[in-house]
Amino acid sequence: MSMQKAINQRQAVRDFAARKVASSDLDEILDAGQAAPVGMGEYEKFHLTLLTDTSVISRIESDSVSTPYYGAPAVIIVSAQKQGASVGAMEYVSAGTIVENMALTATARGLASCVIMGALGPLSKDTQLLADIQIPQNFVPVISLAVGYPNKPQVTLEKSRHEIETDKI
Ligand SMILES: Cc1cc2nc3c(=O)[nH]c(=O)nc-3n(C[C@H](O)[C@H](O)[C@H](O)COP(=O)(O)O)c2cc1C
Repeated sequence: MSMQKAINQRQAVRDFAARKVASSDLDEILDAGQAAPVGMGEYEKFHLTLLTDTSVISRIESDSVSTPYYGAPAVIIVSAQKQGASVGAMEYVSAGTIVENMALTATARGLASCVIMGALGPLSKDTQLLADIQIPQNFVPVISLAVGYPNKPQVTLEKSRHEIETDKI
């Protein structure tokens, strides 16, 4: 799949089949995250966590009232190092580049995905679960990607459905 096709075809999927994702696909997706640009090249400020144990994914979901992982068999969490009490703007932006690289690679490999931030607020307060999934000390989960196969066939998208107001000056 061409890069442009993957960009247009990527869409938030919120209904995943139970079918597992091959570890080779997940490794490619993780590699795409590694290839992303991050501010000042400070890759040590980020941490990736691949979850394929659905009982662990369910524990995160049960912390969160309204933001599930939609039955995805795999979730990748991008965590960033705190600067003082919180994560800096550059780290948030950089986490976005990491997650988008991974989402596009998932699309290019015929997989569906959904960027999820909502579940991470509750997770960030669950110190036991953070320890159980080995988030390093002083790191906070900032964005995540649900990955899997869609329950319904995805609509083929040839161009973006969104319109960001744009000036050309
Ligand atoms: C930073 C960020 C946070 C998001 N958090 C959630 C979320 O918690 N739950 C969810 O269902 N979708 C979430 N999304 C998905 C967006 O709602 C979705 O990407 C957007 O509506 C555009 O639709 P599209 O991805 O199909 O193009 C998030 C997306 C981004 C970029």
